[in-house]
Amino acid sequence: MTATTTSSQHRALAQSLADINQQHLLTFYDDLSERQRAALLDRIAALDLDETPALIKKYVVTDSGSPAFVPSRTLDPAPYYPADCESAQRPWDRASFLLAGEELIAQGKIALFTVAGGQGTRLGYDGPKGCYPATPALGKPLFRLLAEWVIAASERYNAIIPWYIMTSPANHEQTVRFFEDQNWFNLDRAHVMHFQQGVMPSFQMETGAILLDQKDAPATNPDGHGGSLRALHRSGALEDMRRRGVEHLSYTQIDNPLIKAIDPVFIGLHAAAPDSSAEMSSKMVEKTLPEERVGVFCLADGKTSVVEYSDLPDKLASQRRDDGALRFNAGSPAIHMISVDFIRRLNEGDADFALPFHRAQKKVPFINLETGKRIEPDSPNAVKLEMFVFDALPFAHRSIVLETPREEEFAPIKNKNGADSPATSQALQSARAAHWLEIAGVAIPRTPAGDPDCTLEVSPLVAMSATQLKEQLTQNPSKIPTNIAPGDTVVIEP
Ligand code: UTP
Repeated sequence: MTATTTSSQHRALAQSLADINQQHLLTFYDDLSERQRAALLDRIAALDLDETPALIKKYVVTDSGSPAFVPSRTLDPAPYYPADCESAQRPWDRASFLLAGEELIAQGKIALFTVAGGQGTRLGYDGPKGCYPATPALGKPLFRLLAEWVIAASERYNAIIPWYIMTSPANHEQTVRFFEDQNWFNLDRAHVMHFQQGVMPSFQMETGAILLDQKDAPATNPDGHGGSLRALHRSGALEDMRRRGVEHLSYTQIDNPLIKAIDPVFIGLHAAAPDSSAEMSSKMVEKTLPEERVGVFCLADGKTSVVEYSDLPDKLASQRRDDGALRFNAGSPAIHMISVDFIRRLNEGDADFALPFHRAQKKVPFINLETGKRIEPDSPNAVKLEMFVFDALPFAHRSIVLETPREEEFAPIKNKNGADSPATSQALQSARAAHWLEIAGVAIPRTPAGDPDCTLEVSPLVAMSATQLKEQLTQNPSKIPTNIAPGDTVVIEP
Protein backbone atom coordinates (compact mmCIF):
# COMPACT_ATOMS: atom_id res chain seq x y z
CA MET A 1 0.00 0.00 0.00
CA THR A 2 1.41 3.45 -0.86
CA ALA A 3 1.55 6.34 1.61
CA THR A 4 -1.19 8.10 -0.40
CA THR A 5 -3.63 5.19 -0.21
CA THR A 6 -2.83 4.79 3.48
CA SER A 7 -3.66 8.40 4.15
CA SER A 8 -6.93 8.34 2.23
CA GLN A 9 -7.90 5.10 4.04
CA HIS A 10 -6.92 6.85 7.28
CA ARG A 11 -9.22 9.80 6.59
CA ALA A 12 -12.18 7.56 5.77
CA LEU A 13 -11.67 5.33 8.81
CA ALA A 14 -11.10 8.26 11.16
CA GLN A 15 -14.54 9.53 10.20
CA SER A 16 -16.25 6.14 10.59
CA LEU A 17 -14.59 5.66 13.98
CA ALA A 18 -15.60 9.12 15.15
CA ASP A 19 -19.18 8.35 14.13
CA ILE A 20 -19.26 5.40 16.55
CA ASN A 21 -17.12 6.98 19.28
CA GLN A 22 -14.10 4.73 18.77
CA GLN A 23 -11.66 7.30 17.38
CA HIS A 24 -9.18 6.52 20.18
CA LEU A 25 -8.06 3.49 18.16
CA LEU A 26 -5.98 5.95 16.11
CA THR A 27 -4.37 7.63 19.15
CA PHE A 28 -0.86 6.47 18.23
CA TYR A 29 -1.27 6.66 14.47
CA ASP A 30 1.20 9.52 14.04
CA ASP A 31 3.92 7.66 15.98
CA LEU A 32 3.77 4.56 13.79
CA SER A 33 5.91 3.57 10.82
CA GLU A 34 4.27 3.47 7.40
CA ARG A 35 4.03 -0.33 7.61
CA GLN A 36 2.48 -0.24 11.08
CA ARG A 37 -0.02 2.40 9.96
CA ALA A 38 -1.17 0.23 7.07
CA ALA A 39 -1.43 -2.79 9.40
CA LEU A 40 -3.49 -0.83 11.94
CA LEU A 41 -5.90 0.45 9.30
CA ASP A 42 -6.34 -3.06 7.86
CA ARG A 43 -6.96 -4.52 11.29
CA ILE A 44 -9.59 -1.91 12.11
CA ALA A 45 -11.22 -2.25 8.71
CA ALA A 46 -11.51 -6.01 9.25
CA LEU A 47 -13.77 -5.42 12.29
CA ASP A 48 -17.47 -5.17 11.66
CA LEU A 49 -17.75 -1.55 12.82
CA ASP A 50 -21.37 -1.13 11.70
CA GLU A 51 -22.66 -3.64 14.23
CA THR A 52 -20.47 -2.33 17.06
CA PRO A 53 -22.71 0.36 18.64
CA ALA A 54 -25.70 -1.99 18.90
CA LEU A 55 -23.54 -4.76 20.38
CA ILE A 56 -22.05 -2.42 22.97
CA LYS A 57 -25.47 -1.26 24.01
CA LYS A 58 -26.92 -4.75 24.22
CA TYR A 59 -24.02 -6.70 25.73
CA VAL A 60 -21.28 -4.45 27.11
CA VAL A 61 -22.60 -1.39 28.94
CA THR A 62 -25.94 -2.83 30.01
CA ASP A 63 -27.69 -1.55 33.11
CA SER A 64 -27.85 -5.00 34.63
CA GLY A 65 -24.25 -5.79 33.74
CA SER A 66 -25.35 -8.75 31.67
CA PRO A 67 -28.32 -9.09 29.37
CA ALA A 68 -31.02 -11.00 31.15
CA PHE A 69 -31.71 -14.52 29.94
CA VAL A 70 -35.16 -14.53 28.45
CA PRO A 71 -36.77 -17.74 29.60
CA SER A 72 -38.93 -19.44 27.03
CA ARG A 73 -42.60 -19.76 27.67
CA THR A 74 -42.13 -23.46 28.36
CA LEU A 75 -38.99 -25.28 29.39
CA ASP A 76 -39.13 -29.08 29.50
CA PRO A 77 -36.41 -31.70 29.55
CA ALA A 78 -35.44 -32.75 26.01
CA PRO A 79 -36.19 -36.39 25.22
CA TYR A 80 -33.17 -38.55 24.40
CA TYR A 81 -32.22 -41.96 23.12
CA PRO A 82 -30.88 -43.80 26.20
CA ALA A 83 -27.40 -45.28 25.95
CA ASP A 84 -28.95 -48.68 26.67
CA CYS A 85 -31.01 -49.35 23.54
CA GLU A 86 -33.01 -52.00 25.41
CA SER A 87 -34.05 -49.64 28.17
CA ALA A 88 -37.77 -49.79 28.90
CA GLN A 89 -37.79 -45.98 28.90
CA ARG A 90 -37.26 -45.82 25.13
CA PRO A 91 -36.04 -48.95 23.30
CA TRP A 92 -34.46 -48.39 19.89
CA ASP A 93 -32.93 -50.44 17.11
CA ARG A 94 -29.22 -49.85 17.59
CA ALA A 95 -28.15 -52.38 14.96
CA SER A 96 -30.03 -50.71 12.13
CA PHE A 97 -28.65 -47.24 12.98
CA LEU A 98 -25.14 -48.69 13.26
CA LEU A 99 -25.54 -50.05 9.74
CA ALA A 100 -26.91 -46.74 8.44
CA GLY A 101 -23.95 -44.86 9.95
CA GLU A 102 -21.39 -47.35 8.63
CA GLU A 103 -22.82 -47.00 5.13
CA LEU A 104 -22.52 -43.20 5.23
CA ILE A 105 -18.90 -43.43 6.36
CA ALA A 106 -18.08 -46.03 3.69
CA GLN A 107 -19.67 -43.80 1.04
CA GLY A 108 -17.32 -40.94 1.97
CA LYS A 109 -20.17 -38.75 3.22
CA ILE A 110 -18.72 -38.08 6.68
CA ALA A 111 -15.96 -35.64 7.66
CA LEU A 112 -14.44 -34.85 11.02
CA PHE A 113 -14.71 -31.22 12.09
CA THR A 114 -12.69 -30.00 15.07
CA VAL A 115 -12.95 -26.58 16.64
CA ALA A 116 -9.51 -25.63 17.94
CA GLY A 117 -9.51 -21.85 17.84
CA GLY A 118 -9.99 -21.28 21.57
CA GLN A 119 -7.50 -19.43 23.73
CA GLY A 120 -7.28 -22.14 26.40
CA THR A 121 -6.73 -19.51 29.07
CA ARG A 122 -7.82 -21.74 31.94
CA LEU A 123 -5.29 -24.44 31.06
CA GLY A 124 -2.58 -21.83 30.73
CA TYR A 125 -0.59 -23.91 28.20
CA ASP A 126 1.84 -22.04 26.00
CA GLY A 127 0.63 -23.10 22.57
CA PRO A 128 -2.52 -24.29 20.80
CA LYS A 129 -4.44 -26.68 23.06
CA GLY A 130 -4.36 -29.34 20.34
CA CYS A 131 -0.58 -29.65 20.87
CA TYR A 132 -1.07 -30.41 24.58
CA PRO A 133 0.31 -33.82 25.66
CA ALA A 134 -2.91 -35.42 26.84
CA THR A 135 -2.72 -39.20 27.10
CA PRO A 136 -1.76 -40.91 30.36
CA ALA A 137 1.24 -43.01 29.25
CA LEU A 138 2.69 -41.58 26.05
CA GLY A 139 1.52 -37.99 26.44
CA LYS A 140 0.16 -37.94 22.90
CA PRO A 141 -0.99 -34.52 21.77
CA LEU A 142 -4.73 -34.03 21.34
CA PHE A 143 -4.32 -33.45 17.59
CA ARG A 144 -2.51 -36.81 17.23
CA LEU A 145 -5.33 -38.65 19.01
CA LEU A 146 -7.89 -37.24 16.59
CA ALA A 147 -5.60 -38.00 13.64
CA GLU A 148 -5.49 -41.61 14.81
CA TRP A 149 -9.28 -41.68 14.81
CA VAL A 150 -9.35 -40.45 11.23
CA ILE A 151 -6.81 -43.07 10.14
CA ALA A 152 -8.49 -45.89 12.10
CA ALA A 153 -12.00 -45.13 10.80
CA SER A 154 -10.75 -44.57 7.22
CA GLU A 155 -9.08 -47.99 7.29
CA ARG A 156 -11.98 -49.78 8.89
CA TYR A 157 -14.54 -48.42 6.43
CA ASN A 158 -12.18 -48.15 3.47
CA ALA A 159 -13.17 -44.53 2.95
CA ILE A 160 -11.68 -41.07 2.84
CA ILE A 161 -12.60 -39.07 5.94
CA PRO A 162 -11.56 -35.46 5.40
CA TRP A 163 -10.60 -33.52 8.53
CA TYR A 164 -11.48 -29.82 8.85
CA ILE A 165 -9.81 -27.94 11.69
CA MET A 166 -10.86 -24.48 12.76
CA THR A 167 -8.10 -22.32 14.22
CA SER A 168 -8.05 -18.64 15.11
CA PRO A 169 -5.71 -15.87 13.96
CA ALA A 170 -3.87 -16.22 17.29
CA ASN A 171 -2.99 -19.92 16.87
CA HIS A 172 -3.30 -20.69 13.15
CA GLU A 173 0.36 -20.56 12.17
CA GLN A 174 1.51 -22.48 15.23
CA THR A 175 -1.12 -25.14 14.58
CA VAL A 176 -0.18 -25.67 10.94
CA ARG A 177 3.52 -25.71 11.85
CA PHE A 178 2.79 -28.40 14.44
CA PHE A 179 1.11 -30.55 11.79
CA GLU A 180 4.13 -30.05 9.54
CA ASP A 181 6.61 -30.86 12.32
CA GLN A 182 4.64 -34.03 13.12
CA ASN A 183 4.59 -35.06 9.46
CA TRP A 184 0.80 -34.53 9.38
CA PHE A 185 0.49 -37.50 11.77
CA ASN A 186 0.75 -39.81 8.73
CA LEU A 187 -2.47 -38.43 7.30
CA ASP A 188 -2.78 -37.64 3.62
CA ARG A 189 -2.53 -33.86 3.81
CA ALA A 190 -4.75 -33.50 0.75
CA HIS A 191 -7.63 -34.42 3.06
CA VAL A 192 -6.80 -32.06 5.94
CA MET A 193 -7.89 -28.42 5.86
CA HIS A 194 -7.13 -25.76 8.45
CA PHE A 195 -9.14 -22.55 8.31
CA GLN A 196 -9.45 -19.56 10.59
CA GLN A 197 -12.47 -18.36 12.51
CA GLY A 198 -13.45 -14.70 12.81
CA VAL A 199 -12.68 -12.36 15.68
CA MET A 200 -14.62 -9.82 17.72
CA PRO A 201 -13.21 -6.67 19.28
CA SER A 202 -12.62 -6.83 23.05
CA PHE A 203 -14.39 -3.97 24.83
CA GLN A 204 -13.47 -1.96 27.90
CA MET A 205 -16.06 -3.10 30.43
CA GLU A 206 -17.41 0.24 31.69
CA THR A 207 -17.25 2.36 28.56
CA GLY A 208 -17.52 -0.03 25.62
CA ALA A 209 -14.33 1.42 24.10
CA ILE A 210 -12.51 -1.13 21.95
CA LEU A 211 -9.18 -1.82 23.65
CA LEU A 212 -5.83 -1.47 21.91
CA ASP A 213 -3.69 -4.58 22.26
CA GLN A 214 -0.71 -2.84 20.67
CA LYS A 215 -0.38 0.68 19.31
CA ASP A 216 -1.03 -0.76 15.86
CA ALA A 217 -3.58 -3.44 16.79
CA PRO A 218 -7.03 -3.41 18.39
CA ALA A 219 -7.58 -6.13 21.02
CA THR A 220 -9.67 -8.95 19.61
CA ASN A 221 -10.82 -12.39 20.67
CA PRO A 222 -11.98 -15.38 18.60
CA ASP A 223 -15.74 -15.20 18.03
CA GLY A 224 -16.51 -18.47 19.88
CA HIS A 225 -17.06 -22.03 18.67
CA GLY A 226 -20.38 -20.82 17.27
CA GLY A 227 -18.32 -18.68 14.91
CA SER A 228 -17.49 -21.96 13.17
CA LEU A 229 -20.83 -22.00 11.39
CA ARG A 230 -20.05 -18.85 9.45
CA ALA A 231 -16.30 -19.55 9.21
CA LEU A 232 -17.05 -22.88 7.48
CA HIS A 233 -18.91 -20.90 4.84
CA ARG A 234 -16.55 -17.94 4.51
CA SER A 235 -13.38 -20.05 4.41
CA GLY A 236 -14.55 -22.16 1.47
CA ALA A 237 -14.62 -25.31 3.62
CA LEU A 238 -18.32 -25.85 2.85
CA GLU A 239 -17.61 -25.56 -0.85
CA ASP A 240 -14.80 -28.10 -0.47
CA MET A 241 -17.26 -30.46 1.23
CA ARG A 242 -19.73 -30.05 -1.62
CA ARG A 243 -17.07 -30.97 -4.16
CA ARG A 244 -16.15 -34.07 -2.17
CA GLY A 245 -19.72 -35.18 -1.55
CA VAL A 246 -19.41 -34.79 2.23
CA GLU A 247 -22.90 -34.57 3.76
CA HIS A 248 -22.40 -34.61 7.54
CA LEU A 249 -19.77 -33.38 9.97
CA SER A 250 -18.82 -35.07 13.18
CA TYR A 251 -18.27 -31.98 15.37
CA THR A 252 -15.66 -32.32 18.09
CA GLN A 253 -13.95 -29.93 20.41
CA ILE A 254 -10.20 -30.29 20.75
CA ASP A 255 -10.08 -30.86 24.48
CA ASN A 256 -11.87 -34.18 25.10
CA PRO A 257 -9.43 -37.07 24.60
CA LEU A 258 -12.17 -39.67 25.23
CA ILE A 259 -14.30 -38.51 22.31
CA LYS A 260 -15.44 -41.16 19.83
CA ALA A 261 -14.62 -38.91 16.94
CA ILE A 262 -16.29 -41.07 14.31
CA ASP A 263 -19.23 -42.91 15.86
CA PRO A 264 -21.34 -44.85 13.34
CA VAL A 265 -24.30 -45.31 15.70
CA PHE A 266 -24.56 -41.57 16.38
CA ILE A 267 -24.09 -40.82 12.68
CA GLY A 268 -26.85 -43.29 11.80
CA LEU A 269 -29.30 -41.90 14.36
CA HIS A 270 -28.62 -38.34 13.26
CA ALA A 271 -29.15 -39.19 9.60
CA ALA A 272 -31.94 -41.74 9.80
CA ALA A 273 -33.94 -41.52 13.05
CA PRO A 274 -37.61 -40.79 12.33
CA ASP A 275 -37.63 -37.83 14.72
CA SER A 276 -34.44 -36.27 13.30
CA SER A 277 -34.38 -33.80 10.43
CA ALA A 278 -30.72 -34.85 9.97
CA GLU A 279 -29.59 -31.25 10.46
CA MET A 280 -28.01 -31.03 13.90
CA SER A 281 -27.92 -33.73 16.59
CA SER A 282 -26.23 -33.99 19.96
CA LYS A 283 -24.90 -36.38 22.54
CA MET A 284 -25.67 -35.96 26.22
CA VAL A 285 -24.04 -37.22 29.42
CA GLU A 286 -26.07 -37.64 32.57
CA LYS A 287 -25.89 -34.71 34.95
CA THR A 288 -26.28 -35.94 38.53
CA LEU A 289 -25.67 -32.82 40.63
CA PRO A 290 -27.83 -29.71 40.19
CA GLU A 291 -24.79 -27.45 40.59
CA GLU A 292 -22.64 -29.12 37.91
CA ARG A 293 -21.60 -26.44 35.45
CA VAL A 294 -22.75 -27.93 32.16
CA GLY A 295 -25.46 -26.74 29.80
CA VAL A 296 -28.54 -28.97 29.69
CA PHE A 297 -30.70 -30.07 26.78
CA CYS A 298 -34.20 -28.70 27.09
CA LEU A 299 -37.25 -28.32 24.94
CA ALA A 300 -37.64 -24.55 24.87
CA ASP A 301 -41.02 -23.75 23.36
CA GLY A 302 -40.88 -27.21 21.81
CA LYS A 303 -37.42 -26.82 20.22
CA THR A 304 -34.37 -28.80 21.31
CA SER A 305 -31.97 -26.27 22.84
CA VAL A 306 -29.11 -26.09 25.31
CA VAL A 307 -29.72 -23.85 28.29
CA GLU A 308 -26.53 -22.75 30.03
CA TYR A 309 -26.15 -23.80 33.66
CA SER A 310 -26.16 -20.16 34.72
CA ASP A 311 -29.47 -19.59 32.92
CA LEU A 312 -31.36 -22.61 34.25
CA PRO A 313 -33.41 -21.43 37.25
CA ASP A 314 -32.27 -23.20 40.47
CA LYS A 315 -35.78 -24.49 41.01
CA LEU A 316 -35.69 -26.37 37.70
CA ALA A 317 -32.04 -27.42 38.04
CA SER A 318 -32.77 -29.26 41.29
CA GLN A 319 -36.09 -30.88 40.35
CA ARG A 320 -35.96 -34.69 40.54
CA ARG A 321 -37.96 -37.41 38.81
CA ASP A 322 -39.70 -40.23 40.73
CA ASP A 323 -36.64 -42.45 40.19
CA GLY A 324 -34.41 -39.85 41.91
CA ALA A 325 -32.62 -38.68 38.75
CA LEU A 326 -32.54 -34.97 37.98
CA ARG A 327 -35.46 -33.99 35.77
CA PHE A 328 -33.14 -31.82 33.66
CA ASN A 329 -30.38 -34.43 33.53
CA ALA A 330 -29.15 -34.18 29.95
CA GLY A 331 -25.78 -32.43 30.22
CA SER A 332 -24.02 -31.31 27.05
CA PRO A 333 -20.48 -32.59 26.40
CA ALA A 334 -20.42 -30.52 23.17
CA ILE A 335 -20.55 -33.46 20.76
CA HIS A 336 -22.69 -32.98 17.65
CA MET A 337 -23.44 -34.15 14.15
CA ILE A 338 -24.14 -31.27 11.79
CA SER A 339 -25.21 -31.54 8.17
CA VAL A 340 -23.53 -29.58 5.43
CA ASP A 341 -26.95 -28.60 4.02
CA PHE A 342 -27.97 -27.17 7.39
CA ILE A 343 -24.86 -24.99 7.62
CA ARG A 344 -25.43 -23.88 4.03
CA ARG A 345 -29.07 -23.02 4.78
CA LEU A 346 -28.08 -20.94 7.82
CA ASN A 347 -25.52 -18.99 5.80
CA GLU A 348 -27.34 -18.62 2.53
CA GLY A 349 -30.74 -17.89 4.04
CA ASP A 350 -29.34 -14.71 5.55
CA ALA A 351 -26.07 -13.22 4.34
CA ASP A 352 -25.37 -11.85 7.82
CA PHE A 353 -26.23 -15.03 9.68
CA ALA A 354 -25.07 -14.75 13.27
CA LEU A 355 -25.93 -16.57 16.43
CA PRO A 356 -26.62 -14.56 19.58
CA PHE A 357 -23.57 -13.43 21.54
CA HIS A 358 -22.66 -14.49 25.05
CA ARG A 359 -20.84 -12.02 27.26
CA ALA A 360 -17.81 -12.93 29.37
CA GLN A 361 -15.80 -10.62 31.60
CA LYS A 362 -12.09 -11.29 31.17
CA LYS A 363 -8.65 -9.88 31.86
CA VAL A 364 -7.43 -8.39 28.59
CA PRO A 365 -4.03 -6.62 28.36
CA PHE A 366 -4.28 -3.16 26.80
CA ILE A 367 -2.33 -0.03 25.90
CA ASN A 368 -2.93 2.90 28.25
CA LEU A 369 -3.91 5.74 25.92
CA GLU A 370 -2.19 8.40 28.04
CA THR A 371 1.14 6.73 28.72
CA GLY A 372 1.35 4.36 25.73
CA LYS A 373 2.35 1.58 28.17
CA ARG A 374 0.89 -1.93 27.92
CA ILE A 375 -0.99 -2.94 31.07
CA GLU A 376 -1.65 -6.50 32.27
CA PRO A 377 -4.75 -6.12 34.45
CA ASP A 378 -5.13 -8.30 37.55
CA SER A 379 -8.90 -8.30 37.53
CA PRO A 380 -11.41 -8.50 34.66
CA ASN A 381 -11.42 -5.23 32.72
CA ALA A 382 -12.98 -6.26 29.44
CA VAL A 383 -16.00 -7.87 27.86
CA LYS A 384 -15.51 -10.57 25.24
CA LEU A 385 -18.38 -11.58 23.01
CA GLU A 386 -18.60 -15.15 21.76
CA MET A 387 -21.09 -17.28 19.85
CA PHE A 388 -21.85 -20.83 21.00
CA VAL A 389 -22.43 -23.60 18.49
CA PHE A 390 -25.35 -25.10 20.41
CA ASP A 391 -27.37 -21.95 19.78
CA ALA A 392 -27.84 -23.29 16.25
CA LEU A 393 -29.89 -26.25 17.55
CA PRO A 394 -33.26 -24.47 17.57
CA PHE A 395 -32.75 -23.61 13.89
CA ALA A 396 -32.98 -27.33 13.07
CA HIS A 397 -36.46 -28.57 12.27
CA ARG A 398 -36.17 -31.67 14.46
CA SER A 399 -33.11 -32.44 16.52
CA ILE A 400 -32.33 -35.64 18.42
CA VAL A 401 -30.18 -36.30 21.48
CA LEU A 402 -28.30 -39.56 22.20
CA GLU A 403 -27.10 -40.46 25.69
CA THR A 404 -23.48 -41.54 25.99
CA PRO A 405 -22.07 -42.86 29.27
CA ARG A 406 -19.84 -40.18 30.75
CA GLU A 407 -17.03 -42.63 31.58
CA GLU A 408 -17.01 -43.77 27.94
CA GLU A 409 -16.76 -40.44 26.26
CA PHE A 410 -16.15 -37.38 28.41
CA ALA A 411 -12.84 -36.42 30.03
CA PRO A 412 -12.32 -32.76 29.14
CA ILE A 413 -9.08 -30.87 29.76
CA LYS A 414 -10.10 -27.34 30.73
CA ASN A 415 -8.25 -26.31 33.90
CA LYS A 416 -4.64 -26.52 35.03
CA ASN A 417 -5.61 -28.17 38.33
CA GLY A 418 -8.67 -29.66 40.04
CA ALA A 419 -11.78 -30.68 38.11
CA ASP A 420 -11.47 -31.18 34.34
CA SER A 421 -7.69 -30.97 34.47
CA PRO A 422 -5.01 -33.07 32.74
CA ALA A 423 -4.80 -35.23 35.90
CA THR A 424 -8.53 -36.02 36.05
CA SER A 425 -8.65 -36.57 32.29
CA GLN A 426 -5.73 -39.00 32.35
CA ALA A 427 -7.30 -40.97 35.21
CA LEU A 428 -10.53 -41.22 33.20
CA GLN A 429 -8.67 -42.27 30.04
CA SER A 430 -6.93 -45.02 31.99
CA ALA A 431 -10.23 -46.06 33.60
CA ARG A 432 -11.94 -46.43 30.22
CA ALA A 433 -9.05 -48.50 28.89
CA ALA A 434 -9.32 -50.69 32.01
CA HIS A 435 -13.02 -51.16 31.44
CA TRP A 436 -12.50 -52.11 27.77
CA LEU A 437 -9.75 -54.57 28.68
CA GLU A 438 -11.93 -56.18 31.33
CA ILE A 439 -14.72 -56.59 28.77
CA ALA A 440 -12.12 -58.31 26.58
CA GLY A 441 -11.39 -60.68 29.46
CA VAL A 442 -8.13 -59.13 30.78
CA ALA A 443 -7.77 -58.90 34.58
CA ILE A 444 -6.96 -55.38 35.79
CA PRO A 445 -5.36 -54.74 39.22
CA ARG A 446 -7.48 -52.27 41.15
CA THR A 447 -6.97 -50.19 44.29
CA PRO A 448 -9.25 -50.73 47.31
CA ALA A 449 -11.24 -47.72 46.06
CA GLY A 450 -11.83 -49.56 42.76
CA ASP A 451 -9.61 -47.43 40.52
CA PRO A 452 -7.18 -49.12 38.12
CA ASP A 453 -3.87 -49.65 39.93
CA CYS A 454 -1.97 -49.17 36.66
CA THR A 455 -1.70 -46.69 33.80
CA LEU A 456 -3.35 -47.82 30.59
CA GLU A 457 -3.54 -46.39 27.10
CA VAL A 458 -5.24 -47.88 24.03
CA SER A 459 -4.67 -46.24 20.66
CA PRO A 460 -7.75 -45.75 18.46
CA LEU A 461 -5.59 -47.42 15.79
CA VAL A 462 -6.03 -50.67 17.73
CA ALA A 463 -9.64 -50.24 18.85
CA MET A 464 -12.28 -47.53 18.66
CA SER A 465 -14.60 -49.41 21.04
CA ALA A 466 -14.64 -52.17 23.64
CA THR A 467 -16.08 -54.55 21.05
CA GLN A 468 -13.18 -53.91 18.68
CA LEU A 469 -10.65 -54.43 21.46
CA LYS A 470 -12.23 -57.80 22.21
CA GLU A 471 -12.06 -58.69 18.49
CA GLN A 472 -8.36 -57.79 18.53
CA LEU A 473 -7.72 -60.00 21.51
CA THR A 474 -9.21 -62.94 19.65
CA GLN A 475 -7.51 -62.19 16.31
CA ASN A 476 -4.15 -60.92 17.54
CA PRO A 477 -3.67 -62.17 21.10
CA SER A 478 0.05 -61.28 21.12
CA LYS A 479 -0.81 -57.57 20.79
CA ILE A 480 -2.79 -57.38 24.00
CA PRO A 481 -1.00 -57.96 27.31
CA THR A 482 -2.92 -60.23 29.59
CA ASN A 483 -0.65 -60.09 32.64
CA ILE A 484 -1.01 -56.63 34.09
CA ALA A 485 0.55 -56.10 37.52
CA PRO A 486 -0.09 -53.30 40.03
CA GLY A 487 1.85 -50.17 39.07
CA ASP A 488 2.38 -51.26 35.44
CA THR A 489 2.16 -48.85 32.54
CA VAL A 490 0.66 -50.57 29.53
CA VAL A 491 0.38 -49.03 26.09
CA ILE A 492 -1.58 -50.82 23.38
CA GLU A 493 -0.40 -49.51 20.01
CA PRO A 494 -0.48 -51.14 16.57
P1 UTP B 1 -13.76 -23.47 25.63
O1 UTP B 1 -15.11 -22.92 25.83
O2 UTP B 1 -13.29 -24.47 26.62
O3 UTP B 1 -12.75 -22.27 25.50
O4 UTP B 1 -13.69 -24.10 24.18
P2 UTP B 1 -11.18 -22.23 25.35
O5 UTP B 1 -10.90 -20.94 24.66
O6 UTP B 1 -10.61 -23.46 24.71
O7 UTP B 1 -10.63 -22.20 26.82
P3 UTP B 1 -10.72 -21.03 27.94
O8 UTP B 1 -12.18 -20.80 28.18
O9 UTP B 1 -9.99 -19.84 27.39
O10 UTP B 1 -10.02 -21.64 29.10
C1 UTP B 1 -14.32 -25.29 23.85
C2 UTP B 1 -13.87 -25.68 22.46
O11 UTP B 1 -14.22 -24.67 21.53
C3 UTP B 1 -13.08 -24.20 20.84
C4 UTP B 1 -11.91 -24.53 21.73
O12 UTP B 1 -10.71 -24.60 20.97
C5 UTP B 1 -12.35 -25.86 22.30
O13 UTP B 1 -12.14 -26.90 21.37
N1 UTP B 1 -13.23 -22.75 20.60
C6 UTP B 1 -13.58 -21.93 21.61
C7 UTP B 1 -12.98 -22.27 19.34
O14 UTP B 1 -12.64 -23.02 18.40
N2 UTP B 1 -13.09 -20.93 19.15
C8 UTP B 1 -13.45 -20.08 20.11
O15 UTP B 1 -13.55 -18.87 19.85
C9 UTP B 1 -13.70 -20.58 21.39
